[in-house]
Amino acid sequence: MPSFDPVSPQGLSISNLFWFELIVSGLLLALVVGVLVIALTRFRAAPGDATEPPQRHGNRRLEVIWTVSPAVLLAIVFVLVIATIRTVDADQPGARTLRVVGHQWWWEYVYADPQATTANELHVPTGTPLQMSLESIDVIHSFHVPQFGWMQDLVPGKANRMSILVDRAGVYDGYCNQYCGLQHAWMRVRVVAEPLTPSGARGEQVFLQNTCVACHAIRGLPPTADIGPDLTHVGGRSTLGAGVIDNTPDNLRRWIFNPQAIKPGVLMPAYQKLGDADLSALVDYLESLK
Ligand code: CUA
Repeated sequence: MPSFDPVSPQGLSISNLFWFELIVSGLLLALVVGVLVIALTRFRAAPGDATEPPQRHGNRRLEVIWTVSPAVLLAIVFVLVIATIRTVDADQPGARTLRVVGHQWWWEYVYADPQATTANELHVPTGTPLQMSLESIDVIHSFHVPQFGWMQDLVPGKANRMSILVDRAGVYDGYCNQYCGLQHAWMRVRVVAEPLTPSGARGEQVFLQNTCVACHAIRGLPPTADIGPDLTHVGGRSTLGAGVIDNTPDNLRRWIFNPQAIKPGVLMPAYQKLGDADLSALVDYLESLK
C-alpha cells in the first residue's frame, strides 16, 4: 500500500511537509555525525602523547549559533504544520456528504445524495469534494487509506470529520488502523475512485424526465414505480426482456428505441422520439447500473 503517493490535495500537503521534515532532519543528522567523525579522527591523541590538550571554557558565538538556529528551524516547522492543518481541515464548498460507520469488523457507508448504503468497498467520484462523517457503533476503529494521505479515528458517541478530494482515478486499498478485537486485521477498505461520467449524469436526467419513471424504479432515485422491472442493477443482467435478447449496449438501444419490434405485445412503449445523444446517454447510464 503506497503511502508516498497521495491522491488528494489534503494528502499532498501532508506528504510535502513530511518530505521537507525528512530532508531537514537528514541534513542535520549528516552535519552532527560529520562533525563528530571529523573531531574523532583529527583530534585523536597521538600514540605515546600523554600531555593534556589545551583547556577552553565556553565559546559565546558557538553557543548563540546552536541555540538560535534550532529555534528558528522549529519556528519554521511550526508555521508549516499550522498551514498543513488548515489545508487538511479546510471546508470544501459544495462537498458531498458521506457517513462512514465502523462495525466489528466491517465498514458501512451511507451516501446522502443520491441516498444509498453500501459496505466495505467504497466508490467515490474523482474531482468531487467529499465530507465524511466517521462514526462507530461499537469500539474505536480508524479509517486509513494510505493514499488519502491521512487517517481518522471512528469513536463511539462522537462523529469525527474527514475532508477528502480524490483527484486521481484508481483503486486504493486501506484498513482499520486501530486494534478493535479479534478480526481487526480483516477490516479492510477498498476505495474505487472513478470520474463521474457526464454521459452517466445525462442518462439519469433522460431517465427521470421521460416516462421511464412511470413504470421502472431505480433505487436511489426518487420515483418508486413497480409496474415494469426494477432497473437498479439492470446492467448486471445477462438478458433483456425476460430473455428475449442478450443484454448488450446495442441491444438495449434497440430495445428502448422500439421494444415492439423485439417482443411484440410487450407493455413498454417505444422511445423513438429520444434523440441519438439522449438515447446513447440513457444506454450508457443503464448499462453502468451493476
Ligand atoms: Cu476496526 Cu481495527
